[in-house]
Amino acid sequence: MIIAIDGPAASGKGTIARRLAQHLNLPHLDTGLLYRATARALLEQGHDLSDRAAAIASARGLALTDFDEAALRGRGMGEAASIVAAIPEVRVALVEMQRGFALRPGGAVLDGRDIGTVICPEARPKIFVTASVEARATRRALELKSRGEKVDYAAVLEDIRTRDARDSGRAAAPLKVAGDAVVLDTTKLDVEAAFKAALAIVEATLAAQ
Ligand code: DC
Repeated sequence: MIIAIDGPAASGKGTIARRLAQHLNLPHLDTGLLYRATARALLEQGHDLSDRAAAIASARGLALTDFDEAALRGRGMGEAASIVAAIPEVRVALVEMQRGFALRPGGAVLDGRDIGTVICPEARPKIFVTASVEARATRRALELKSRGEKVDYAAVLEDIRTRDARDSGRAAAPLKVAGDAVVLDTTKLDVEAAFKAALAIVEATLAAQ
């Protein structure tokens, strides 16, 4: 069983994917980390985010191991990831790694922006997790604060709006709802309720098979 979880920034897709994977005893890949790690490697080597050739080389050199999640999840790295993720060759460089993970025997849970549309069109179920931009900004601000970052709500809201526009507006694998995805709006749901709703979608898929 390959479960595809897509959605915009701070929609709750990561938490849902992690919880589903734990519950179903499946491996989980947060594909946003691949784009974050690509951007981080680029910046660490002293390149600019607009240096396409260096971004492509950085994506091609990426390994699935040694991800320093704490460094990758900071506020600036989401934005940087979104910029390199718009480069088609960067996306191509990361496809094989993601498909290899998805096709593990026994199945997997992957979350990102294009899992159900591009990486694993055969995934069942596909869940598109979304929430109002205000709810997402509130969650992201809380999350960043809990990690000791100084953040203000207005700036986080602006970041998310910019990221939504870039991720949905790009030509290469834009964020969009797959035709056969179930949309899960978490605006009014807490973590537990969102997880239960996602699990119900998975169970309904299993029952229908
Ligand atoms: O899910 P996240 O916030 O960690 O993702 C960071 C950025 O990476 C996101 O704004 C766009 C890009 N991304 C992508 O283009 N495709 C994916 N499958 C996952 C992330």
